[in-house]
Amino acid sequence: MFKLTAKALACALSLSIAGLAQAADPITIKFSHVVAENTPKGQGALLFKKLVEERLPGKVEVQVYPNSSLFGDGKEMEALLLGDVQLIAPSLAKFEHYSKGVQVFDLPFLFDDIAAVDRFQKGEAGQKLLRSMEDKNITGLGYWHNGMKQLSANKKLVEPKDARGLKFRVQASAVLEEQFKAVRANPRKMSFAEVYQGLQTGVVNGAENPYSNIYSQKMHEVQKYITESNHGLLDYMLITNTKFWNGLPADVRSELEAILAEVTVAVNKQADELNQGDKQRILDAGTTEIITLTPEQRGMWRDAMKPVWKKFEGEIGADLIKAAEASNQAQ
Ligand code: LMR
Repeated sequence: MFKLTAKALACALSLSIAGLAQAADPITIKFSHVVAENTPKGQGALLFKKLVEERLPGKVEVQVYPNSSLFGDGKEMEALLLGDVQLIAPSLAKFEHYSKGVQVFDLPFLFDDIAAVDRFQKGEAGQKLLRSMEDKNITGLGYWHNGMKQLSANKKLVEPKDARGLKFRVQASAVLEEQFKAVRANPRKMSFAEVYQGLQTGVVNGAENPYSNIYSQKMHEVQKYITESNHGLLDYMLITNTKFWNGLPADVRSELEAILAEVTVAVNKQADELNQGDKQRILDAGTTEIITLTPEQRGMWRDAMKPVWKKFEGEIGADLIKAAEASNQAQ
C-alpha cells in the first residue's frame, strides 16, 4: 500500500515538474528571410533578436534564419501559415495571392522617393493594407524599407529600347512581369536564391534590385552594367500568423510590438545608408559600370512603363493608386 502511494506521489511530482518546466519554456519565434545579414532586412532581424533577448529574457527566444536557409521565397508564406515560422518579411512584390491592394507598391514610377513611400505607408491607406489579410490569418506588423530598385544587365540600358528581347528575372509579381513586357523584354519569375546563378549561366540577362541586394548576392560580379533608374520600390511587410500573434500573452505581445516599432525606425533610418554604402562598394569592386540617366532618358522609361498602372487599376483600386500618388506631395 505504502509502495503504491509512494509511486503515485513520485508520478504526480514528476508530472507537476514537467508542467512547471513547460510553463517556464520560452516562446520561440522563428524569423526566416531570404537575404544576407548585411542588408536592411538582415540587420532588422538581428536587432529584433537582440532587443527581445534583452527585454524578454527567458520569456521569448528568437531564432533568425537568413539567406533562405530555412525557407526560400516560394515556401516562406506557406510556412508562416502552417506555424513553422512566426515572423517573415517578404518583399511587397510577393503578396499578390493574399492581397491585391499590396500590388500598388510594385507599380513602376509611382513613388518619387522613399520619403513619399514613408508618407504612404504611415497614412491611412498604407496602414489599412497591413490589416488586409487577417481573414487569411496574416497580420502585418509594419513596413521595412530596403529602397529603390536599379536595373542591371550585361548590356548598357540607357533607353527602353535597349531592354528589348532581354530576359529579366522578376519576383513573383504579375505587375513586375507587365513592367518588363511594357519595354518588350521577357520577364522570368525566379526565387531570390536562384538569381545569382541565373545571371551567371545566362538563364536571365538582367534583373532589378536595390544596391544592397545586388552587392550582398554578388550580382555585380555577373552584371557589367547597373542603370540607376530608381524605377520602382523594394520594401517589405513584416508579417506574422494572426492566430499565433493573438494567442500570445498580452504583456508579451505589447512588449514585442514596442520592440518592433523601435526596430522599424532603426531599419528605415539605416536602409538608405546601407544602399549607398553598397553602391560605393560595387564601384570599388570595378566590375560594373553604373549608368546615370538624364531626366529625359528617365522620362522615356517612365513613359514606357507607366501604362502598367492602367492594367492593374481594376485589381488594385483607383483610389489606392491615387492615395499612393498623392504621397509624392509633402503636406
Ligand atoms: C527579391 O526577390 O529580389 C527580393 O524580394 C529579395 C528580398 O527579400 O529583398
